[in-house]
Amino acid sequence: MAVRAQVPAAAASQSACRLSSAPGWKKQDLPTFRSMTSSTDLQFMQDALALARLAAPACRPNPAVGCVLVGADGQLLGRGMTQRPGQAHAEVMALRDARSRGASVAGATAYVTLEPCAHQGRTPPCCDALTEAGIARVVVAVRDPNPRVAGQGLARLRAAGVDVTLGVGATDSRELNLGFFSRMLRGLPWLRVKAAASLDGRTALPNGVSQWITSLQARADGHAWRARADAILTGMGTILGDDPRLDVRGVDLPRQPVLVIADSALRTPLDARLWRVRDRQVLIYTASASPEPAAALRARGAEVVCLPRADPAQADGRQVDLRSLLRDLAARGVGELHVEAGGILGGALWRAGLVDELLLYQAPLLLGEGAGIAQLAPLTTVAQGVALDYVDVARIGPDLRLRARLRGSSRWLHADGAAR
Ligand SMILES: NC(=O)c1ccc[n+]([C@@H]2O[C@H](COP(=O)([O-])OP(=O)(O)OC[C@H]3O[C@@H](n4cnc5c(N)ncnc54)[C@H](OP(=O)(O)O)[C@@H]3O)[C@@H](O)[C@H]2O)c1
Repeated sequence: MAVRAQVPAAAASQSACRLSSAPGWKKQDLPTFRSMTSSTDLQFMQDALALARLAAPACRPNPAVGCVLVGADGQLLGRGMTQRPGQAHAEVMALRDARSRGASVAGATAYVTLEPCAHQGRTPPCCDALTEAGIARVVVAVRDPNPRVAGQGLARLRAAGVDVTLGVGATDSRELNLGFFSRMLRGLPWLRVKAAASLDGRTALPNGVSQWITSLQARADGHAWRARADAILTGMGTILGDDPRLDVRGVDLPRQPVLVIADSALRTPLDARLWRVRDRQVLIYTASASPEPAAALRARGAEVVCLPRADPAQADGRQVDLRSLLRDLAARGVGELHVEAGGILGGALWRAGLVDELLLYQAPLLLGEGAGIAQLAPLTTVAQGVALDYVDVARIGPDLRLRARLRGSSRWLHADGAAR
């Protein structure tokens, strides 16, 4: 079943205004004119956000940004979105679009979902492009947390006499680029654990069998969530038990997410099905320095990364430190990390406090005995449990999809001073 997601902005939903639920957000024609009445800023910012959703995932690891240029009479003059890394940003694309229509942008307002950049990277500073074009007002959803920007774009616009408004559509803009914000503000990816469980919370039978607990529709929906991630992480138990490909199927994508395997003893089989996926980067993290298996896996096409071992008090003494693994992924540009692993690796991530979000598909099925969603240490009080808040609940075919976030997990997300 093909899930339409050349925009796998899984957090987007039926309306371009809401970022709350289903993947497969459909491209819609943006209006070309709006009357300049109340809440105009928010409406135009929603148009810019809709463009930003179209930009991901081709623009990764850069943030997905949208921009619309609007004349004083409410006429839409140009629109743009972030291109592939090294190519034009949203503001420049919108200016080019206006130019190609023969529209003058002098005195116009620019609606941008992220603070225009102020530094010379692979492309020139966008705030200069806006001021040179004569833009009179810039409405920005949220400050860019990238230390190379971090308010400097806004300051430069104001210094050039441009009227700047900040904070319109800030929540939606952050949601759209959770991975980018997480990388910039914490040096870690946004970590989403996906699990398919029975109604009594079983993710596998005692004999390890887990295929298939949930429906075809739920699995297709799961592919759209894989598609919006930069990387998919799994553990050796899943590799050896299920021999999965862990790629994205049925979704139109410019690239496959990187496959990341936590493999202490470098036991990933050289004939596993995961190698059948073409043009996909495979990263194998280990704490083992064994040169022979590492060389064989490298010859098979993987990059083998050796990192420090976990604290023996928290792992079995052979395993890689998971925080170091995540930091390494963030440094490589992985913003959103999708985890599909069993209870052992999943449990280790929960216990280390590294999980941000649970994406749970729950089938109307009772399995009795079996593995749970995460292996936590034995608790003595209910209060010791991992507290989450539901983000949304949806019916997917015969199953439920629940999304929940670790309570208080995203305080860092607002540490960028968005309202300033
Ligand atoms: N229903 C679902 O959503 C779902 C999804 C995925 C899997 N599953 C099921 O889960 C079962 C496998 O689960 P599992 O719990 O045995 O395996 P797992 O969680 O997939 O992998 C665990 C293994 O990862 C390796 N690992 C490396 N570094 C680690 C670290 N720092 N912390 C923890 N683990 C680390 C360890 O093996 P080494 O020490 O050898 O490296 C460990 O035994 C299968 O039956 C599969 O079908 C179900």
